[in-house]
Amino acid sequence: PPLSEVLNLHDFEAIAKLVMPEKAWAYYSSAADDEITNRENHTAYHRVWFRPRIMIDVTKVDWSTKILGHHTSMPIYITATALGKLGHPDGELNFTRAAANHNIIQMIPTLASCSFDELVDAAQPGQVQFLQLYVNTNRDVTKRIVQHAERRGIKGLFITVDAPQLGRREKDMRQKFEADDPSEVKNAGESDSVDRSQGAARAISSFIDPGLQWSDIPWFKKITKMPLILKGVQRWEDALKAYDLGLTGVVLSNHGGRQLDFAPSGLEVLVEVVEQLGKKRGLKFPNEKFQLFVDGGVRRATDVIKAVALGATAVGIGRPFLYAHSAYGQEGVEHGLQILQDEFQMNLRLIGANTIKDISRDMVDASGLGSH
Ligand code: FNR
Repeated sequence: PPLSEVLNLHDFEAIAKLVMPEKAWAYYSSAADDEITNRENHTAYHRVWFRPRIMIDVTKVDWSTKILGHHTSMPIYITATALGKLGHPDGELNFTRAAANHNIIQMIPTLASCSFDELVDAAQPGQVQFLQLYVNTNRDVTKRIVQHAERRGIKGLFITVDAPQLGRREKDMRQKFEADDPSEVKNAGESDSVDRSQGAARAISSFIDPGLQWSDIPWFKKITKMPLILKGVQRWEDALKAYDLGLTGVVLSNHGGRQLDFAPSGLEVLVEVVEQLGKKRGLKFPNEKFQLFVDGGVRRATDVIKAVALGATAVGIGRPFLYAHSAYGQEGVEHGLQILQDEFQMNLRLIGANTIKDISRDMVDASGLGSH
């Protein structure tokens, strides 16, 4: 169908399923085990309801904000998803270019199918990019990647901490990952002894260090001045540790349900993190010094507004953009971003908020999420 018939982010998934090669669909859509967490990521948002304000002059609304101090047209970013070329020959370049046109931040994955430099070179002057880091067993490799990223102007390092071993994504495991695959990873390098018989994820992840631990954090602070954010925090105690170690933030995420099945949704974790860090360290959120991000299952501006009301600085969106670029390339990603822009305008008006700062905690009822 023509892009004009795509009315929301869900539509991209249905269309992508029809038009994508089976292998790519299996890699993008799959999640761990019985995919319960993947489903919960989205349905958690259904348990939060608005308490809209009326009779506010909403003639003018502005949903731009800042992420790690950088301007963005919406409180969202394109999160890191590996193997862009499985879905479209231009790979992650589609995200870089679409992000530039909408003033959105792109998080470049370690396992991009385009090379890191290609994606940085394709950025417009002043365009902000982050890097998602998988920590290599060989720390010299990691140091090289991190310091190169800093030299190239990357504005934030998101260290993935929820993947000491890749989850079982059985849809993907039933597919074989070919050695000459056009989507083969450009950045990770050292994957000589990969097992290609059980899907894309397993083939590309053998270098990730399961030994990564809290005591490694000072080393990261020594090798780079970039803001450090942990991606994949799933309980308040770990968010507190990250804060106490002087990190810049955490992404409350379960990797799109692709790691531990029955890990809680990021939204649910957000509530306990805000509560406990408030109690234990007197922090108020959203907080510029320690920023909370959420990803997983975000499909509507209303989802984003709920997360912001509950204390998130911004949210990451993954699969919808993968599906959009697989079916329509860069144009699809831009259309997806435009849909979100339109949804922000309407929904801010309808809840009675002129700006992102006006979205306050009292504008949502999150009692359906339960307490901890
Ligand atoms: C991911 N994600 C991910 N995360 C990461 O830290 N490194 C990676 O290489 C990848 N790769 C990846 C591939 C694919 C196909 C998907 C769907 C996801 C996880 C991603 O950053 C994010 O946490 C989720 O995608 C968010 O959930 P939604 O928006 O996809 O529901």
